[in-house]
Amino acid sequence: MPYETLLYHQEGALGVLALNRPDRLNALNRQLVRELDAFLGEMEGERGVRVLILRGEGRSFCAGADIKEMAEETGPPLPRSISRVFTRLEELPQITIAAVHGYAVGGGCELAMACDLRIASEDARFGQPEVKLGILPGAGGTQRLPRLIGIGRAKEVLYMGDFIDAPTALAWGLVNRVVPRERLLEEAKALAHALLQRPPLALTLIKSCVQVGMQGDLRSGLEYEARCSTILHASEDRQEGLRAFLEKRTPTFKGR
Ligand code: COA
Repeated sequence: MPYETLLYHQEGALGVLALNRPDRLNALNRQLVRELDAFLGEMEGERGVRVLILRGEGRSFCAGADIKEMAEETGPPLPRSISRVFTRLEELPQITIAAVHGYAVGGGCELAMACDLRIASEDARFGQPEVKLGILPGAGGTQRLPRLIGIGRAKEVLYMGDFIDAPTALAWGLVNRVVPRERLLEEAKALAHALLQRPPLALTLIKSCVQVGMQGDLRSGLEYEARCSTILHASEDRQEGLRAFLEKRTPTFKGR
């Protein structure tokens, strides 16, 4: 499907999606959110893509919900639909990597947090400035941020609305890696290719275990983990992984 606010290309089993409203720092307007929702619908059934990188065109990853549209809106609040779409992103079967440069603030920070992993360039800035507009981060910010960086740090970010820089984001666990700006995409792709070497079924189930486990109590999470472990026990990839280790060779996984 052709999109106006998104650019997508595929390199084998790796998909690269760019937000494409550079003159608005990729602010999330209704069209972009609608298109992202449709794109995710396509991705859900796309078994040929196993890792997806999200990035921003222009000088920033994403500056959050489109404030101009929000000021004019008459229908349901924009953040509510953004929140639903970000949860859909979080639940994709693919492993997702946010490659963040410039600003990832407001919905941009929430978008990065809905991805599995985050790589930032040295110039990246993160934050949830909604409080300064008299609103709150309504697309997961009050929920995913404390889960990622802890309650105390998250409350400071959410209450103050000030931005944090890339080294702070790294120290607080908001991002996995910080790299020079010119190497951002290259490093994100290197990580993606390393993930593509891992057994697909195991990766999908590990993602699902973490996702399910973070939403419930420990006992239920452990039960879910045990069920997934049983599924993998019967997989060809498990046999291949064990055999390759014993034979001192690189395994060839088939996702079965
Ligand atoms: N919604 C709509 N337009 C936005 C936007 C947003 N969230 N963020 C940036 N833009 C627009 C600006 O209005 C500007 O447009 P203009 O050139 O027509 O004036 C353009 O994008 C570039 O932004 P600008 O503010 O000039 O860039 P900057 O580098 O000086 O500042 C930010 C970058 C991110 C600090 C600043 O744009 C900002 O604070 N944006 C809003 C962030 C926010 O509060 N998000 C949460 C929304 S709920």
